[in-house]
Amino acid sequence: MSKVLLITIATGKYHSFIESMLGSAREFFLSSESHEVNFLVFTDNPTLIPDHSDIYTSVWDHRPWPYPTLLRYHAFLSQKDFLSDYDCLFYCDADMLFVAPVGDEILADGLVATIHPGFYNKHINDFSYERNENSTAYIPYGLGENYYAGGFNGGRSADFIEMCKVIKHNIDVDHSKDIIAEWHDESQLNKYFYDVVSPAKKLDPSYCFPEADWAKDLPFDKKLIALDKNHEELRA
Ligand code: GAL
Ligand code: GAL
Ligand code: MN
Repeated sequence: MSKVLLITIATGKYHSFIESMLGSAREFFLSSESHEVNFLVFTDNPTLIPDHSDIYTSVWDHRPWPYPTLLRYHAFLSQKDFLSDYDCLFYCDADMLFVAPVGDEILADGLVATIHPGFYNKHINDFSYERNENSTAYIPYGLGENYYAGGFNGGRSADFIEMCKVIKHNIDVDHSKDIIAEWHDESQLNKYFYDVVSPAKKLDPSYCFPEADWAKDLPFDKKLIALDKNHEELRA
């Protein structure tokens, strides 16, 4: 029996997604009997989170865009001891929906990342890696292997916590120079996989399948859907 924690962040308007996301996760995410799955929601209003014995909340302030996403690793580390109790940690954006079983194929002896649906068939020079040399997330043209999505990733808990520490540090260094990488935490995640350790498991874009129209013919099964929300309205 392995203990798994699925982490998400719902502050401000992102609360509108949380009930359906958690409901879909309870149905489809590692739902076999060989796992005990709990959930941890970082929220600025725990009263908006469904009340279940397997759902934990941690209070985390809502901040203006892009800080809710940029500071996710700071949030996770604020509960480091709680996280360490699990064998395996996964993170999923709040505005996603599990639509098919997601099982043991996502587990690995290391980190697990999802190939971004917008870049699986692109040349490395077209990846949206950070190209500002002054950012800690910088990756030079001509290098790299995959472009990973920030929306769903995880892995063995010790490896995930170590990754959180490095990314948090790099975000803090950038902050001290007034730099935010173009795709925030996602740029930093990609830098980590480029620079420190490649994911032990690389999931195809099934696990971050956009609901948006441009993605409708992508050659992958839909397992975890990234909802086609109105970003401007949500981030206002
Ligand atoms: C957004 C994501 C939201 C929420 C937020 C904080 O990118 O779509 O679901 O998780 O980041 O990380
Ligand atoms: C977009 C996605 C963003 C970011 C970007 C990277 O499709 O909505 O969250 O991942 O790609 O280029
Ligand atoms: Mn999202």
